[in-house]
Amino acid sequence: MRTVMMMAVLLAGAAPVAAETVAISAARMLDVDSGRISERPLVIAVDGRITAVGVQGALAVPAGARRIDLGNHTILPGLIDMHVHLTSDPTLSGMQALRYPNSFWTAIGVGMAKRTIEAGFTTVRNVGSAEFADIGLKLAIERGTIPGPRIVPATYSIGATGGHCDSNELPANYIFDRPGIADGPEGVRQKVRELHRRGAEVIKYCATGGVFSIGTSVGAQQYSQAEMNALVEEAHMLGLKVAAHAHGNDGIKAAIRAGVDTVEHVSFADAEAMEMAKKAGTWFSMDIYNDDYILAEGAANGVPEESLAKEREVGLKQRQTFQAAWKAGVKMAFGTDAGVYPHGDNARQFAKMVEWGMTPIDAIRAATIRAAEALGRSDVGQIAPGRHADIIAVAGDPTRDVTLLRDVKAVVKGGVVVKDAMGKVGR
Ligand code: ARG
Repeated sequence: MRTVMMMAVLLAGAAPVAAETVAISAARMLDVDSGRISERPLVIAVDGRITAVGVQGALAVPAGARRIDLGNHTILPGLIDMHVHLTSDPTLSGMQALRYPNSFWTAIGVGMAKRTIEAGFTTVRNVGSAEFADIGLKLAIERGTIPGPRIVPATYSIGATGGHCDSNELPANYIFDRPGIADGPEGVRQKVRELHRRGAEVIKYCATGGVFSIGTSVGAQQYSQAEMNALVEEAHMLGLKVAAHAHGNDGIKAAIRAGVDTVEHVSFADAEAMEMAKKAGTWFSMDIYNDDYILAEGAANGVPEESLAKEREVGLKQRQTFQAAWKAGVKMAFGTDAGVYPHGDNARQFAKMVEWGMTPIDAIRAATIRAAEALGRSDVGQIAPGRHADIIAVAGDPTRDVTLLRDVKAVVKGGVVVKDAMGKVGR
């Protein structure tokens, strides 16, 4: 009753806010659907959403519209990264990271979110962070207090006791309970419900061991089929998509069988796993850039030799698997594991994807229209009516030279300039 009254007061007192119209222009535009470049585009957005896309001169600029001209550049939709950890810093790896409290990781997330959006990534899926920091970041970004991408938060990644999503660095007498840990079908169901209540919009879990965890084998499966089935069923019942971390083939197959939406890493998938993914419509999100960074900088960053040895086992094989999976026709979305390498360098992966068999436009699609599909969202990923006016600009044709995406000249998010055509960042 009280809430109803308060709402009535708020509604009565609210002055009608005039819709804000913006008109965004540039020299060229890449339509990621058709792959075609058009000249002199004009995009109209009202209150951050695109209402019309046309050609300057032909499409009218509504009276009173605010003009955003992105100069002699090519515009395309804001990029999407399906796999980031905004609260990680790769230069603080291994035991070094244990010196810092959770509040530190939340705080650096603010800076990492800024780097990410200034690099042209206007939407990210944050697939694992402590203390529900990704929820806080998302809310602060949405209020406009700090700059950053749209975040699809997973909160804690869910994992088996002692598995990749647990913390195994310390000897047993120093072990602490990680909130993402759950065991048994009922345990994982309960964990999904709990994270959902706390604001998770996607569920991430560890189906196999990994590179950066201590005492896990990259190839080994870490949840039983029954546990994965229960977890995915529960998440889907709540309307959440599920991302499974999986390097080893058995874990990949169990995850696909359980009905996950995306498999992350996918290093050792065989031809049968690829067929299963195709049949089930499962997306692969393969972080094939970071091997270069990890092997070059890992030791200096404090990554233990155990993890570096696992990386040497995984790196090349994962790229070969990527090539085979793409050739086999598996749906591919762009996910980089930023946080394992520096935030803001996300676009370095495009050239790797091209080197390993994609055309530039398909690599760009994986980070735009296709990633939106994998997220199940029709409000991002394309410059089209109804979608958010998330638009970036590069200096040339990225379908000829995909490395242009490493140097994003301008960023607009929801019709608001984050970085202008002179490369100047706002606020
Ligand atoms: N988070 C992943 C893990 O620890 C990173 C793997 C990075 N290496 C790679 N080649 N993709 O397993």
